Amino acid sequence: VGADGTRVFDLTAQPGASDLGHGANTRTWGYNGSYLGPTLRAARGERVAVNVHNRLNEPTTVHWHGMHLPAKVDGGPHHPIPPGSDYQAAWTVDQPAATLWYHPHPSDRTERQVYRGLAGLFILDDDQQPAGLPHEYGVDDVPVVVQDKGFDGDQLSMSDRFGSDVGILGDELLVNGTPGPFLDVRTTLVRLRLLNASTARVYDFTMSDGRPLTMIGTDGGLLAAPYSTDHVRLSVGERAEVVVAMRPGERVELRSRATGLGRFHGGRDSFDVLQLRAAGDLKAGTLPEKLADIQRLDPKQAAQRRTFTFQGRDINDDGMDMDRVDAVVVKDTTEVWNVANGHGTPHSFHIHDVQFQVLSVDGAAPPPELGGWKDTLFLEPGRRYSVIAAFADYADPTTAYMFHCHVLRHEDEGMMGQFVVV
Ligand code: C2O
Ligand code: CU
Ligand code: CU
Repeated sequence: VGADGTRVFDLTAQPGASDLGHGANTRTWGYNGSYLGPTLRAARGERVAVNVHNRLNEPTTVHWHGMHLPAKVDGGPHHPIPPGSDYQAAWTVDQPAATLWYHPHPSDRTERQVYRGLAGLFILDDDQQPAGLPHEYGVDDVPVVVQDKGFDGDQLSMSDRFGSDVGILGDELLVNGTPGPFLDVRTTLVRLRLLNASTARVYDFTMSDGRPLTMIGTDGGLLAAPYSTDHVRLSVGERAEVVVAMRPGERVELRSRATGLGRFHGGRDSFDVLQLRAAGDLKAGTLPEKLADIQRLDPKQAAQRRTFTFQGRDINDDGMDMDRVDAVVVKDTTEVWNVANGHGTPHSFHIHDVQFQVLSVDGAAPPPELGGWKDTLFLEPGRRYSVIAAFADYADPTTAYMFHCHVLRHEDEGMMGQFVVV
């Protein structure tokens, strides 16, 4: 924390070597290390400044995924950081506690940079943390960054070995950069902050013995109340916070079961993710019944309705054009965006700057797991979604935010649009 109270972080994007299960010499990239980056953490109301140093041999950017901030420091493709140079982003955190993340967002290179290891969590806190929720980082509140990887010998395979339409897919799984991971559990309640930081793959998390996952949060913060389910599906870029109940001495596996997307994914479609190993003596806990107040946005108040159809590599039949603004949004208004997946390939819809609420899926009320704040939404083939967002606080007619498909190959190939808030 600096003299003026600003919370200052340093992130150096750099090449290195890691052991991802194929020897110690796998060439990878990381922030401040050889793979992934540190978990950044700040509280609502705090001023943060991140100094980014690019020690790669190509341009990069760092985008703060899920963060409500001015377009100028959003880290999109408009502001590349050249090799060898430095950049600072600073803003004031003003949104509920949530599990956000950061990753590169340069033109044409996002898939490869994330795949090599550039990504990290950005956890936000606020003073509304309900009593009883596990919150000791690394003990009963644990980051679970899930990524698939393929290898050629001892090096990462950068090609799409399955001939899929979604880019690089791997047949091995890492959690926080670790193959075959396990977690020593010391409490009856374990909170897992799940992030799908893969470039293309969709996961459908479930427990090996069928016990429930209690979902407590989505991309943008806590749900109104805990929701018990037998599976949690996350497309690229989505997060979920879940709580698993454990008994002394037991072992159980978090898995990702078949998604049914095999024909789009190719190769394997189910994985062991993380083994939970409970100690003989566990500290007991009870989940609160209520988690957060979520103010519902009212579609009747929407100032604008827009439709975006995702198909092929286009949104509304157009690819990304840095000189074209696709939507001009008036500050402090709400908008309803109708988003459809034309057909075929799965997509993942993401809007910068805002958290949205899902109003409907194919015209029907959304399921409970879509009942909280979202910034990224799985677009199942052929389905239509309606979302609502409030665009508050920051106007900048000359700097655009992005919305795009978060399948990173699709994003690199131009499945992106721009909006400005005026
Ligand atoms: Cu997670 Cu435009 O990005
Ligand atoms: Cu983003
Ligand atoms: Cu896509």
